[in-house]
Formats: sequence, structure tokens, C-alpha cells
Amino acid sequence: MRNTEHRLPDGRSDGRRADGGSRPDETDDGDEGPGCPGSLIVVSNRQPYRHEYESESEGDDRSIVVDEPAGGLTAGLDPVVREVNGTWIAWGDGEADFAVTDANDCVSVPPGEDAYTLHRIDLSEEAVDSYYYGFSNQVLWPLCHEFPDLIKERGDWTNDFEWYRTVNERFADAVAEHATAESIVWIQDYHFGLAPRLIRERIPKAATIAHFWHIPWPTPETFAECPVGEELLEGLLGNDLLGFHVDRYARLFLECVEQYLDDAVVDHEEWLVDYDEGTTRLATAAMGIDADTYDESARTVEDTDALLEAFGVSPEVTLGLGVDRLDYSKGIPERLAALERFFERNPDRRGEFTFLQKATPSRTGIPAYERLGDLVRSEVTRINSRFGTDDWQPIVYTEEYVAQENLCGLYRRADVMVISPLLDGMNLVAQEFVASSVGEGPASGAAPGEPHGDGVLLLSERTGAHERLGDDAVTIDPTDTDGFAAQLETALAMPASERRRRMRSLRTEVFEADLEAWMDSQFASIRRLHGSSESDDDGHDARTPPV
Ligand code: ADP
Ligand code: F6P
Repeated sequence: MRNTEHRLPDGRSDGRRADGGSRPDETDDGDEGPGCPGSLIVVSNRQPYRHEYESESEGDDRSIVVDEPAGGLTAGLDPVVREVNGTWIAWGDGEADFAVTDANDCVSVPPGEDAYTLHRIDLSEEAVDSYYYGFSNQVLWPLCHEFPDLIKERGDWTNDFEWYRTVNERFADAVAEHATAESIVWIQDYHFGLAPRLIRERIPKAATIAHFWHIPWPTPETFAECPVGEELLEGLLGNDLLGFHVDRYARLFLECVEQYLDDAVVDHEEWLVDYDEGTTRLATAAMGIDADTYDESARTVEDTDALLEAFGVSPEVTLGLGVDRLDYSKGIPERLAALERFFERNPDRRGEFTFLQKATPSRTGIPAYERLGDLVRSEVTRINSRFGTDDWQPIVYTEEYVAQENLCGLYRRADVMVISPLLDGMNLVAQEFVASSVGEGPASGAAPGEPHGDGVLLLSERTGAHERLGDDAVTIDPTDTDGFAAQLETALAMPASERRRRMRSLRTEVFEADLEAWMDSQFASIRRLHGSSESDDDGHDARTPPV
């Protein structure tokens, strides 16, 4: 998904265009509509369009440009919201965002097309510091990724939680401005743990509230480290539908409810929770990517050698690749340790194998992220000075922005892609690598996207993606340095026929269970609930889903 740091140094994303311009409509391909019933209101922290001042312009007449979604959820949902003429509520974090909104903080987007309403929430610096950098990313993120010690680092986070509540209330108020009994409110992610109940209190009973939690859910033992856990669970049980990527997270959620919420009744068979006169149904659906677009982008890259040369990497090398947000959950130091072990054990690979690590700074200013950046950079320097020669570096590390198309070219060129998180809700990069693994020449039309490449996916068993791709990936435990290095050897020694067989099967999975399939499954679940609530608008609890 897009994040602020996935942008050009001057603040541009690769999809930037002058305000008022129109972008090619990728959805205008005659496909069926998104199948979303009712009027759709999406709630997310990140917005689909951001207005910025042109960096060169000055004074009152500064020109305004628009950043567009670079990929992932915001880009994927945008065509759906357009199609149903819905509403999207998100934090307005662009410098010029409120210069273009109306008195209600709304703006029609995309500019020039006016397909739907983007309602921006204006957050003060203090709100951002406490709601986003504080509670969301120094309490909930480490909690859900099983780093409870990092929560303590924030010290007293009561104020963060108060802001988190306040911001959730502000989003709930905004939803209430748009919602009717026919509405479907679809909330995204961990920034809105309290919002479902707050929204429930503010909108007509017949409206449906669904939420997708994009990150892992912690074990009950870890969850105990969250002193406001009960409030969080109560908040989330304001949903009619709560989605996770994989079954394990849904089960852990039910276990936490059972242990920490006395009055809740948990049905572990049906994945239902009855609480406070409402019922919440859990559902799992692993999020996919827009695989066709990655395939197409990868095919447009004519010269992958030039891409490597731009990073000072010889086109002759066997290429290992890592692409991650600089986040402690991604297992980057563990990967570097395995690479060091690999070069120790395989002197013949020195000069022949290069690992290119693209890291994107993220949530900078949070101490744990700053420390991680320092550690990664110093480890790369140390390993390179240990094994490097005048004309070869074992690890080429870059934090530079890489345009989407070039990213696809790198995926396509990689002989081995290393995904080593210590815990990851899904991991989209693994799927992007697979979708971009195209062979020479245009797609033949044979499913899925023949001809295809033969790069090997090394995948941590601790990712949601492993549940889908684990059978045809080479599995690693990122904390087992020797085992990790050995699996890298296995991947590099794998016969071409085996690599191709695995890639074919990975591609089948990634193309079949793509972003559209994920959204279809979400909307199918929502439609079932919504249908039941529409026909039950006589004062009964409208949230009880049909069996
Ligand atoms: P997370 O959501 O934790 O960051 P994912 O792997 O699920 O992890 O998603 C990361 C997303 O960010 C992917 O879509 C990836 O392509 C994108 N990304 C990472 N680095 C860049 C970059 N430099 N430029 C553009 N997109 C990037
Ligand atoms: O995976 C969770 C997530 O919030 C994504 O939605 C997002 O792309 C990523 O983390 C980056 O986070 P942020 O929005 O904090 O930059």
C-alpha cells in the first residue's frame, strides 16, 4: 500500500499529475461493476488523493498538484468507490488538501471526473503525533506484531489513547454526516479500533458496518500488555463483519474476546460473537494484488540490465532482491545476518551473487524505526567491508525512490526474492514479485500470463502470504540464521525446471486470488449481512447475520 515515504524526494508519487488533468481509467475495461450493495462509505487513514503545492511555485497563487494512489489498497478501492459514487473518509495529510475542499471538508475526486466524495479529516500536529505516531504505531502496531517491549518505550501513552479516541470520534462524526439506513461503512485497519462502536451509535441501525484488520492479531498473552484491550475489543465488536487475512488471526481474536470480555458470547464454530445486543461475524479473506497490472508493467521494462547498472550492480550477477518498508517487523537485520552466513559458507559466490536491498524509510521519528535504520545501514557497511572487493559489493543498499515500473523490472530480474518478516499480516511484496515474474516477450494469453519467469521466492513462514504461497516458495524461519542461509543455497541451486514449476503454480495462486477476488469476497459477505439487515428493519437487531 502506498505510504508517504513511497514518494519522490520532493513529495511526488509516480502517479503525479497537474490538478485538473485526467488519468487513464484503468477500470474502463468493460468489467462488471464491483458488486457492492447500498451506498458505500470507506474509512481509512491514508487517502486516495492528496493535494500538494507545486514545489517551485510561491505566494498566494501557488499551483496545486495531485498525488494519486501508487498501489495496494487505496488504488484498488478507488475504482470501486468511483463506480458506486460513494464516499471516502480519510486523514487529509497533504499541504494543499484543505485549499480545495468545501465548507464541509469534502472534495470531489478524481479531479476533473468528480466520481465520488473525499471527506478529509483535518488533524492537528498534536493529533497526528498521538493518534498516528503514538497509539496506532507505538502501541497497536508493536502489540499486533508481537513486540510488546516496544510499547513500553513510548512511556505514558494515556494521552495517545485519548487522542486515538478523539480522532476515531471525529471519523465517526464524519461517517454520520453521510450515512443512511442503506449505507455500508467499510473501515480499514488498526487506526480505527474504537470507530465501529462509535459509528454504530451515530448511524441508522439498518446500515452495515464492516472492518478489515490488515495486520496480525496478537496472542492473548501479548494482548494482555494492552491495558485498554477491553475497550478495543468493545469497539471492534461494534462491527457487523470483521475481516482478517488468515484464520489464525481470527481465531486469536476470538480467544482474546473470550478471555478479556466477560459479557461476550463466542461461537468458535460459526465465528460469531454476541455482545451488547449485537452480533459480529468474523471472516477471513487473504488480500491479493492487481496481478495483471504488475504483469503488464514488468513486460514493459525493456532493459533490466540498465536498471541494475543504475544501482552500480553488474548485469552479470546472480541477483537476490529485498523490497521493504524500513520496519522492524520485516526481518531485515535477520536477512543481513543470513546473507553474511551465506557468504561465509560459500566463498565461490563472492563476486558472483549480489543482494539488492531496497528499503523505504517509514514512520521516521519513532525511535524504534530510527534505530532500525541505523542498524541496517551499519550492518550493510560492515558486511560489505568484510567481503567486498574493488569491483563487487555483496549487498547494494538503497533508500532511493524506485518508480513502480522499475520495481516491477527488478522483481522480474531477481533470481531470488527474499521476504523475511518476523510477523506480517499478509505481505504484498511477495505477490508483486510473483506477478512481475514474466518471461521474455508479450503475454501469450495462456493462463496465467505466459510466458513466465523462474525466480525463486524465499518466504518467511510468519507471513500471511505463506499460507497462500508456502507450498511453492522456499520456506524460511527468519530467526534461524543457519537454516535461512541454507535455504538461500537451496534456492540458488534449484534446477530450472523446478523453479519454473514452482513459479507457474505461484502465479496461478496470485492471479486467481487477486485484489478483485478479495474485494468480491468482502462484498459478498457484506451483501449477505446487508440483505438481512434491510429485511429486518423493524427494531430487531439488524446485525445478526443469516447463517
Ligand atoms: P506494508 O503494508 O507493511 O508496507 P506490504 O508488503 O504488504 O507491506 O506492502 C508494501 C507496499 O509498498 C507494496 O505494494 C510495495 O510495492 C510498496 N512499496 C515499497 N517500496 C516502494 C517504493 N519504493 N515505491 C513504491 N512502492 C513501494
Ligand atoms: O500494513 C499496514 C499499513 O498500514 C498499510 O496499510 C500501509 O501501506 C503500511 O502499513 C504503511 O503504513 P503507513 O500508512 O503508516 O505509512
